[in-house]
Amino acid sequence: MLEWEDKYSVGIEEIDVQHKNIFAFGNKIWNIIHSDDADRNHQMKAEIKRLTEYCEYHFNSEIEYIKKMNLKILDNHIPEHNRFYDKMKAVLEYDCEQVTFEECFDIMIFIVNWINDHILELDKKQFE
Ligand SMILES: [Fe+2]
Ligand SMILES: [Fe+2]
Repeated sequence: MLEWEDKYSVGIEEIDVQHKNIFAFGNKIWNIIHSDDADRNHQMKAEIKRLTEYCEYHFNSEIEYIKKMNLKILDNHIPEHNRFYDKMKAVLEYDCEQVTFEECFDIMIFIVNWINDHILELDKKQFE
């Protein structure tokens, strides 16, 4: 579960709001995986699709901000966005009828950890 704290703030309100929205997606996926709903895998896939679309918007807007502020884009920043995309793209290819609970759980952990680590380790450094 992701809980917003001041330590996540990059000091730009618009970016913080977008990150809070990404937290909400992460937590929705967390809740889905912890539910007993029969169509849990389908719900999770649909939410991951929405998260991926939102991240596309967020990543673009973040990079635009960096450029607008004349900051240098950190070397691993865009590759890290792409690593997330690639993982989600692969996940969206999964067959909901075949995927196991463990696989879904691992995907959820990847998403939650990626969001946490990316904001704390890259986005924050980027806007320092
Ligand atoms: Fe980023
Ligand atoms: Fe970000």
